[in-house]
Amino acid sequence: MSLKLDRKIPLAEDIWLFEFVRPQGGALPAFEAGAHVTVITPSGARRNYSLCNDPAENQRYQLGIKAERNGRGASLSMVEQTEVGDVLPVADPENSFELVDAEEYIFIAGGIGITPIMCMVRSLMARGHAGFHLYYVTRSPELTAFGEELADGALADRVTVHHDGGDPDNVYDFWPLFEKPGKAHVYCCGPRALMEEIRGVSGHWPQSRIHFEDFASDVQAVREDDRAFTVRHADTGETIEVPADATILDTLRHAGHDLPSSCESGTCGTCRTELVEGEVDHRDMVLEAHQRETHIMICVSRARGDELVLRW
Ligand code: FES
Repeated sequence: MSLKLDRKIPLAEDIWLFEFVRPQGGALPAFEAGAHVTVITPSGARRNYSLCNDPAENQRYQLGIKAERNGRGASLSMVEQTEVGDVLPVADPENSFELVDAEEYIFIAGGIGITPIMCMVRSLMARGHAGFHLYYVTRSPELTAFGEELADGALADRVTVHHDGGDPDNVYDFWPLFEKPGKAHVYCCGPRALMEEIRGVSGHWPQSRIHFEDFASDVQAVREDDRAFTVRHADTGETIEVPADATILDTLRHAGHDLPSSCESGTCGTCRTELVEGEVDHRDMVLEAHQRETHIMICVSRARGDELVLRW
């Protein structure tokens, strides 16, 4: 669908609120907390952005977008090349970070990862659900979106904001929160380092209660020292070389295979593919240890050796 940019206001340094509506007004397709929409940005690239408003609001989509100065240009083009009144192609909402029904939630957000979490918080507040606490880590007050709303009376007791100043010695210590497994569902969205930290401290929790989402541009699906390898289809025998600077997903698509994906950062589970043979360098955040023997997330993971045998 084509949606009109109706409002664009700064939320924090380099973070902007974008509000989209139907050009003629009227209700938009419904969404649930945790959902995202795909936008074709002025740079031409498609990007997924989490919705941050209360899902009960059916006439607008609000997105929080960070101008990634070291990113791939798509989000920067949203910030620098759009103005109120522009009409952009936006796909219907999808949700790979669904808020399950629970009595208690722990929300953990880092930087721009606050956007889907804000949607969850607003949705719970609107329903009068008080069983949550939000931990929000940012570098500084200037880089903290929604700061005023989170410090507001109704939310203040349920929110802990921590600024680390970019100092690795000043990161928030989550271990006391996770030491004793509780009954909460945990939702974490933020930079890869934060999610790996939470994955690490929550290893003894039931993994079905730990949820991650990441559309961040800091994910390096391909690293400098990556090597080329081949993927072979277990049934057809088709063999394709994956270059050192490309992912399996991109390579297979290039070869004409129509494969699903969403986050393309190893967190949503959409690109899960059957692994038949070969040693994998697993780089995702979704597969549990026993699943890694039979599956691979092809948007980020690669071969340790020369070949992987898959069923895509
Ligand atoms: S597309 Fe989300 S894990 Fe691969």
